[in-house]
Amino acid sequence: RSGITRIPVVVHVVWNTPVQNISDAQIRSQIDVLNRDFRRANPDVASTPAPFLPLAADSRVEFYLADSAPNGTPSSGIERRQATVASFSDNDAVKAAASGGMDAWPAARYLNIWVCQLGGGLLGYAQFPGGPAQTDGVVILCSAFGTVGSAAAPFNLGRTATHEIGHWLNLNHIWGDDGSGCSGTDNVADTPNQGGANTGVPGFPHVSCSNGPNGDMFMNYMDYVDDRAMVMFTAGQATRMQACLDGPRSQIGT
Ligand code: ARG
Ligand code: ZN
Ligand code: CA
Repeated sequence: RSGITRIPVVVHVVWNTPVQNISDAQIRSQIDVLNRDFRRANPDVASTPAPFLPLAADSRVEFYLADSAPNGTPSSGIERRQATVASFSDNDAVKAAASGGMDAWPAARYLNIWVCQLGGGLLGYAQFPGGPAQTDGVVILCSAFGTVGSAAAPFNLGRTATHEIGHWLNLNHIWGDDGSGCSGTDNVADTPNQGGANTGVPGFPHVSCSNGPNGDMFMNYMDYVDDRAMVMFTAGQATRMQACLDGPRSQIGT
């Protein structure tokens, strides 16, 4: 498809202690990040090392808080529930009222984002296209969501949601999910073959899998580096996300 796809978002805030009940301003700060990152309008794209800068692409996707609920009534696109569950995991309990969370809105039409406390150092997780509608969407740790309020360094630039929504649009991890091997692939042609995940704030270049001289594209949103170190999707990744919007997620934004 050509042009920009605008995706309606519902944010389900499932909180236990008051600090987890993040403000509307913190939620809006996250939407703003998404609209910069997916349009290559993030100022820090300028820090992309010169060999990789020409590959940094506009993904042609935008996000907005849904203005109507599934039944057609006006909505802020934000729902809140105080949960008795102190901390969730990646078992999808947060995605159903019956297990202490909140039910999904129809996933064919909305991007569901659950924001909650997560245990085990998990920043977030995503469901790839093609899965059950009731669990479709992304889950983000409340203190890794947005850029203000309780957002905490080094994950306070909203990039956890950028990364997880990349998965939701069918992107794989840039290192190919093969541990530290050189045989995995992210199914994208313009990203270098890469050994394992990078973390923190790597120095350029970081060479693995004979990918010198430029090495790993660790500054890609689909690596595991700190928020301030990830600044780009490639044209190949944008093509893959657009194919997802033409395929399994074709009802989004209609
Ligand atoms: N699912 C990944 C994790 O929990 C998300 C990593 C996001 N990285 C980031 N810099 N925000 O570790
Ligand atoms: Zn991931
Ligand atoms: Ca690899």
